[in-house]
Amino acid sequence: MIDLRSDTGTKPTPAMREAMATAEVGDEQEREDPTVTKLERRTAELLGHEEAVYLPTATMGNQIALAILGERGAELIVEERAHIMVSELGGAAYHSGLQTRGVPGYRGRISAEQVRATFWNDGEFWTPRMSVLALENTHNTSGGTVWPLAELRETVAAARELGLRAHLDGARLMNAVVASGVSATEIASGFDTVTLCLSKGLGCPLGALIAGSRELMHQARVEKHRFGGAMRQAGIVAAAGLYALDHNVDRLADDHARARRLGEAWAEAGLPVDLELVQTNFVQIDVASIGLTEEEALARIREQGLLLSQTRPGVLRAVTSLEIDDDAVEQALTAIPRALEAVRV
Ligand SMILES: Cc1ncc(COP(=O)(O)O)c(C=O)c1O
Repeated sequence: MIDLRSDTGTKPTPAMREAMATAEVGDEQEREDPTVTKLERRTAELLGHEEAVYLPTATMGNQIALAILGERGAELIVEERAHIMVSELGGAAYHSGLQTRGVPGYRGRISAEQVRATFWNDGEFWTPRMSVLALENTHNTSGGTVWPLAELRETVAAARELGLRAHLDGARLMNAVVASGVSATEIASGFDTVTLCLSKGLGCPLGALIAGSRELMHQARVEKHRFGGAMRQAGIVAAAGLYALDHNVDRLADDHARARRLGEAWAEAGLPVDLELVQTNFVQIDVASIGLTEEEALARIREQGLLLSQTRPGVLRAVTSLEIDDDAVEQALTAIPRALEAVRV
């Protein structure tokens, strides 16, 4: 089976495992793990923030951000198909007492104008206040799309004018960096908090970080503990993170090139692929537009020896990662059109 479901399926390579096996470790909860500390410092610097906190998952990073930035009973503004909205089980309400306002995005982006338009202050004490804005870059369900830096800054500036705090779900931030050539600091430093995930295209078995000011990261450590996320000899996995930052960032360009090759071949074969959305390591196929349900399309694709996943109603996605080499791409080039009968091979 060629597994194109997600870059979360990446497994640690022998060299990454070697780095893990030889990692110096200590009690992370006591901040005595030198490898975790090194990864936190390195990530803070990468993202242009004072401090970073190592976490098991990016979901925990987003939820900690909402807990420390949000005001209970106030509103969270987020794109309506962002991970925080569709895949975190109402955590904003459940953990942090936030009322979420989902705004329809264009390729996952919310404009400054949309942020201003959501603002409503009639001076009455019963009208909910807006408290926090969360953006996502790259945007998963839109197809791994990248925010243009100027637009990102305008949207964050609009939020600031209205007194909101701002969080970036940068689970795949390094894909945005590699695709756009804009540094992680330029993208991330304007936010109060940023989540970075290590277990997607960067290839770690687990791990994520949240970054922000020293003061906010103190609060993040408190919430991390409250969520049950404080760990012990976590350096064994943090070593994978350091390895990934050294070896697996630039190579994301290969994943992007392979996704592009797949997208172009499938579009050429008549499949409904919007190439403008193929900006990083995802390719979306709008199977509803060729009269297939997601289940039918996935079953046909599986018969040809490939796995894709559902990303939003009517749309499947193929994701490239370090698990997908050129041979796999060559096979997928023809197998997917054959499965969906766009071409007869
Ligand atoms: C944009 C985005 N944010 C956050 C997450 C959550 O990551 P994790 O699985 O590490 O909790 C994901 C996972 O797919 C994601 O795509």
